[in-house]
Amino acid sequence: MEQAKQMFSYNIFLIGFMGSGKSTISKYLKEHYGMEKIEMDKRIEEQEGMRIADIFRVHGEPYFRDLETKLLMELQQEKNKVVSCGGGTPMREENVRQMKTNGRVVLLLASPQTIYERVKDSHDRPLLEGHMDVAYIADLMQQRREKYEAAADLVIHTDGKDQEEICKELVQKLLEWEAGSCIR
Ligand code: S3P
Repeated sequence: MEQAKQMFSYNIFLIGFMGSGKSTISKYLKEHYGMEKIEMDKRIEEQEGMRIADIFRVHGEPYFRDLETKLLMELQQEKNKVVSCGGGTPMREENVRQMKTNGRVVLLLASPQTIYERVKDSHDRPLLEGHMDVAYIADLMQQRREKYEAAADLVIHTDGKDQEEICKELVQKLLEWEAGSCIR
């Protein structure tokens, strides 16, 4: 498994709705495959010295989106890192271009019900504050679906799978992709 350290000459960008498992899977890849991970939200919080919720409240969403784009440009210098993106990162075409320049984009999918169970007790997501229900999640997910799918090089359905299964599938699909035989 140590081989993953050397395995990819590009970055792996995990995209997907809030609560789709991006952070959990990047953590697993770090712990079990020895990959270095970058959490975009965390990096932005460190750079700004503020929590995401406060950035939204004080500066507004467009300011936060510009920070995401700026960070993706900085990540061009990295390789073989697993990058856990924010749920809205692939909504901007420029961001998708940045990710694809030096990386593969992996979409993690989960059902609205699964997402709800994972995020319902959290207050870290300004876009769900005051809308914490399955219908709202399903609706926002539907609005984003087209852009998520257009951005993705690979898609992984995570419902009913454990972290190990998801990571094995991810690494295997990336290797198949490199061998030129991967079909989403
Ligand atoms: C957002 C998702 C959040 C965070 C911000 C906006 C979104 O990240 O970037 O609250 O637009 O979906 P997670 O997907 O890690 O929760």
